[in-house]
Amino acid sequence: MKQQGEKITMLTSYDYTLARLVDEAGIDILLVGDSASNIVCGNQYTLPITMDEMIFLAKGVVRAAQHALVVADMPFGSYQVNDDMAVANAIRMLKESGADAVKLEGGQEIADAIRRMVKAGVPVCGHLGLTPQSVNQFGGYGLRAKEEAEADKLLADARLLDEAGCFCIVLEKIPAVLAARVTAAVSCPTIGIGAGAGTDGQVLVLHDMLGLNQGFKPKFLRQFAHLAENIQSAVGDYITAVKDSSFPSAEESY
Ligand code: KIV
Repeated sequence: MKQQGEKITMLTSYDYTLARLVDEAGIDILLVGDSASNIVCGNQYTLPITMDEMIFLAKGVVRAAQHALVVADMPFGSYQVNDDMAVANAIRMLKESGADAVKLEGGQEIADAIRRMVKAGVPVCGHLGLTPQSVNQFGGYGLRAKEEAEADKLLADARLLDEAGCFCIVLEKIPAVLAARVTAAVSCPTIGIGAGAGTDGQVLVLHDMLGLNQGFKPKFLRQFAHLAENIQSAVGDYITAVKDSSFPSAEESY
């Protein structure tokens, strides 16, 4: 698709029902993101979610996917300790969840682990720029690689991930000009989020683009629907109908 100039579409998914709708709508890649820690579990950060929890969620998405590639995030702590543990956990993710590939955050520091995963038959998606598992080092979720030194490191990291065998690289919240440079410099596709239009594809968090996450409206986010209002209105109608005894009707009874 990169070679043909066809943009790649990726959205997060965390459960069977929504993943089935997204898959049927024709998405290319379903990402079981560790943003499930925030979106599904209500945590402030992605850090607390575990391998067992990610595998549980990914299984539902895998059952739903008839067409899309399913990529599962490796959670914080599952690949940083040493390369043996990283490879073992990546194999476990594919084996137990049925996902097609894994995604890991980081560059040079995890390149050897990625090389070994790829050698072991695990397709790997990289993730550079704003890497939420490092929020405690970054001190927040601001734009990354604004300065030349960080931009140079990101470009070098992207080349390393490409050489290590990543089949694609997510670029999160970096200047559009840098994302376009990275995209031109690597052979694998880049998938951007808050990285401008010059990447080979785009990814968004499903709940954010559907307008379910009302308080969250960063500049890069386009809400393609406003489902929070629809849901609250439907629930309000249900409450009213139960309270005034208009639900269930005779036709809705046995
Ligand atoms: O976990 C996630 O949802 C992600 C995307 C934002 C790329 O990593």
